[in-house]
Amino acid sequence: MTSGKARYAWTGQKDAMELLGALTLPGIERSVPYVRLFLRDTFVPGYVAPGDELLADMALVVDELAANGIRHTASGRGGKITIALWAGRGVLRAEVTDDGANGARPVVRTDPSGESGRGLHIVAALAKAWGHRPDGPGTTVWADFPAGRGQRNLAAGPRPLA
Ligand SMILES: Nc1ncnc2c1ncn2[C@@H]1O[C@H](COP(=O)(O)OP(=O)(O)OP(=O)(O)O)[C@@H](O)[C@H]1O
Ligand SMILES: [Mg+2]
Repeated sequence: MTSGKARYAWTGQKDAMELLGALTLPGIERSVPYVRLFLRDTFVPGYVAPGDELLADMALVVDELAANGIRHTASGRGGKITIALWAGRGVLRAEVTDDGANGARPVVRTDPSGESGRGLHIVAALAKAWGHRPDGPGTTVWADFPAGRGQRNLAAGPRPLA
């Protein structure tokens, strides 16, 4: 993530999203469990009910995105990854920012017999929408999920617990 990232982002529709938090970790496999903990501690219980399968879906997706950053970019060679979590009207967003791969970007593999190339298919299957954008030399990969599948009704916008 670039420094000084805005606290609000436009979803491309009418509504802004609020940045709930961001966490930067070393680009190593052992960081992945912390990514999951951060996801859970940020969204539960204010945005996702404890035990909601939405959280399991989100955890699978951020696992894949973090693993990709570590495996395919400079993040995994002494760099870092950043996860940022956002909430907007009807949407929860997870973003993973890496240190870049000389301009290479995520690409959905289509070879059905390939031994790898499944991660982004999992992301596409579980997220409502996903995509990526350049972020300095790195890439931010984002995935959106429908809010309000759990206890909270976010129709009025993000409303963290008091
Ligand atoms: N953050 C990223 N930056 C640059 N390239 C990426 C990034 N994430 C994925 N890629 C590219 O997209 C390809 C597909 O990613 P995907 O996660 O689907 O498969 P994989 O990581 O190769 O294998 P698997 O996830 O099944 O272990 C990768 O092989 C890699 O070339
Ligand atoms: Mg992968």
